Amino acid sequence: MSFNAHNTRQDFAIFAGSDVAFLDSAASAQKPRAVLQAMADFAESHYANVHRGVYRWADEATQAYEDARQAVARFLNAPSPETIVYTKGATEGINLVAHSWGQSLRAGDEIIITEAEHHANIVPWFLLSQRQGVVLKWARVDDDGVLDLDHLQSLISAKTRMVAVGHVSNVTGTINPVAEIVRLAHDAGALCLLDGCQAVVHEAVDVQALGCDFYVFSGHKLYGPTGIGILYGKAEHLDKMPPFQGGGEMIESVSQDRITFAAPPLRFEAGTPPIIETVGLMAAIDYVGQFDRQAIARHERALAHQASKAIVDMGGRILGTAPDKAAIISFTVDGVHAHDLAQILDQCGVYVRAGSHCAEPLHTRFGVTSSARASFGLYNTADDVEALIKGLAKAKSLLMA
Ligand code: ALA
Repeated sequence: MSFNAHNTRQDFAIFAGSDVAFLDSAASAQKPRAVLQAMADFAESHYANVHRGVYRWADEATQAYEDARQAVARFLNAPSPETIVYTKGATEGINLVAHSWGQSLRAGDEIIITEAEHHANIVPWFLLSQRQGVVLKWARVDDDGVLDLDHLQSLISAKTRMVAVGHVSNVTGTINPVAEIVRLAHDAGALCLLDGCQAVVHEAVDVQALGCDFYVFSGHKLYGPTGIGILYGKAEHLDKMPPFQGGGEMIESVSQDRITFAAPPLRFEAGTPPIIETVGLMAAIDYVGQFDRQAIARHERALAHQASKAIVDMGGRILGTAPDKAAIISFTVDGVHAHDLAQILDQCGVYVRAGSHCAEPLHTRFGVTSSARASFGLYNTADDVEALIKGLAKAKSLLMA
């Protein structure tokens, strides 16, 4: 279907009768009716727990749950559904790898991250370093917010076991050269985990072409529900990894003195999983997949470009100015606190995020403590950019009067 943002906006009940300029999709995207309806239909007609019952609804629910896994595998071009683990979000996916795969590390082993990471791709590795004496190394970004690949390469040593980086920055929108990073990691015998939260929203991702060992993303940023995320892992790693959590359905057998575990992915899905949410995620993938994704990306980038230009013309500073960026703009205005800016924009019906966007080290790198962020989705139009620009002018006149 050809893409037109004015039409897609109509697919979202939350915008009905509203002229809110919602510019916070990088935090969590709105949900189209198709997603909400799919979840309601499933809950109202087939719902039961999965991988447990033998009655019809239980069968249908299990089928839907596994169909969604196949849809995710196709979405990422993963080699098989067994490489797709359901988590409650990208954060849990990274924690799972840090806890489970991380048990194979020894004191002195090294993990490389970058100073542009979201806290979700920092804190689990930091905790691992404290638990097991692993050394955490930080690759630099330059003044434009671009990863210094030479620096990253210089950090890689014979002790490097993992390079974990964001595919697209949630602050600057910078797109990392992830295939190259995977190659550098593999050349050193290390693994590579990619945090794809902001990438899957803006571009088609092919985990086999990237060659990464792990890839994570969250459903709620992809126009799907909260409480569902994906961890893709190469079978050769998942097969060897111990459980992350214990509970029902992740076992093969349990006796008083011995427990054996299910094969992946169920080994990593202890307890009742987010069932309705998998159906919602599949609907979200279908929803996004009906459009030309490059057309969406072009549209979102054009809006972001227009907004960036206006922000700079008003004397604002954009954090991260790589020429090829996803549609996420974080910015500061001298003498104006980001929270004050966001509050005035809110009064103008323009919703942006303010703060450090769960990326304090990157803000420190840019010499600021906070920024305002406008992030674009497939329902944003030029009207939203216009509202943002008007709101910023008002904020400036009020706050700098
Ligand atoms: N990670 C989300 C954001 O960047 C919450 O806003």
